[in-house]
Amino acid sequence: MAAGDRADLVLVNAGQLVTVAGSSGAPKRGDDLASIGVIEDGAVAVRGGRITAVGTTREVLERVETGPSTKILDAAGLVVLPGLVDPHTHLVFAGSREDEFVLKIQGASYLEILKDGGGILSTVRAVRSASKERLYHSARKNLDVMLCQGTTTAEVKSGYGLTTADELKMLEVIDDLNRSHPVDLAPTFLGAHAVPLEYKDNLEGYLSLIMDEMLPAAAGRGLAEFCDVFCEEGVFSVGQSRQILQAAIELGLKPKIHADEIVSLGGAELAAAVGAVSADHLMAVSDEGVRVLARSGTVAVLLPATTFCLMSGRYAPARKMIGEGVAVALASDFNPGSCPVNSLQVVMGIACRQLKMTPAEVISAATINAAHAIGRGHYIGSIEAGKKADLVVFDAPSYNYLPYCFGTNLVKTVVKNGEIVVGGQM
Ligand code: NIG
Ligand code: FE
Repeated sequence: MAAGDRADLVLVNAGQLVTVAGSSGAPKRGDDLASIGVIEDGAVAVRGGRITAVGTTREVLERVETGPSTKILDAAGLVVLPGLVDPHTHLVFAGSREDEFVLKIQGASYLEILKDGGGILSTVRAVRSASKERLYHSARKNLDVMLCQGTTTAEVKSGYGLTTADELKMLEVIDDLNRSHPVDLAPTFLGAHAVPLEYKDNLEGYLSLIMDEMLPAAAGRGLAEFCDVFCEEGVFSVGQSRQILQAAIELGLKPKIHADEIVSLGGAELAAAVGAVSADHLMAVSDEGVRVLARSGTVAVLLPATTFCLMSGRYAPARKMIGEGVAVALASDFNPGSCPVNSLQVVMGIACRQLKMTPAEVISAATINAAHAIGRGHYIGSIEAGKKADLVVFDAPSYNYLPYCFGTNLVKTVVKNGEIVVGGQM
């Protein structure tokens, strides 16, 4: 074998190598969600940023050529997972909303706060007055934390600008981060996140602005891959959401929906009807919505840390969804209002306790199914030959320990595109 064929890096001796492999190109559903392909004493070889071999340490070392330039990572006694994928974040924002947090503790509802010009709209004011540089630096700081917590790919939405210039400013920040930070980002246009105050009495005018100006500009400049809509009572109706998503599809963007988060409007049904890549939140999804999602290719992205932070006590019916065959993924929903949590480890811990998902299920949901929720299931989300070498090493005796012991960062090392980007001393 030529030197050029030698492995750049071989991770060996993993106590448990959780591959999440074998879903043959589709998200996991039903019982398959819990089959996560654990290899004891596992190893992974990497070359050119890609995984070249997976198996037991003996198998992999027999199969691959190593040389003086090959880096060996000894993961003895540790758990290794595919890089975590966060398919729903609002990472780019300015300011914070701890005052609203206090109001919520005292009983104010999320939609009331928004109706009074607070909530999303208070972050809109902060983002409009922030420079691109300031937005970039604060988002970058949070992205560093996410990477240290094991997230190697994340979706990021606009939606706090709500003018063409400010929405483009946010999308440009996402693009700059994508080019300059190890975490890969999937950009989403979310001009339909709220109706800005200046259009309060002219909703039609705002819809036209989104469809005639913002969407063509975002798509034309290649700054967005997805288009999302906050389909919610008092925000955008099912009909308006459909109109916006159809306009987005015509421009080549893939649809996503904030669906049935607080009120059961039929967002899940709309997601299936427009062929959305994902329907997100679903705390208030109807029985029919669950049935329709199960028969569709739309991934249900559940955000249990949001329910926890909203203190509504109404979690998405995850067990029913899994039982009926819905493809379920998990995400953080990181944002300054409804969920200031950016750690998928915390999300996984809450998902086990409140959604009653098992540790094996939450691992599939935060890796391969999360990858499918952003159209990337073919090249990330599992540890398989040919996929990107995105790996996370946890200081844990077993994979069950990960969501069990949540609240501290268990990540020891992160490998992104075959490079060690966090830790390394093993
Ligand atoms: O997913 N629901 C709409 N959007 C976000 C919240 C954003 C915010 O409150 O700033 C969510 O929960
Ligand atoms: Fe959201």
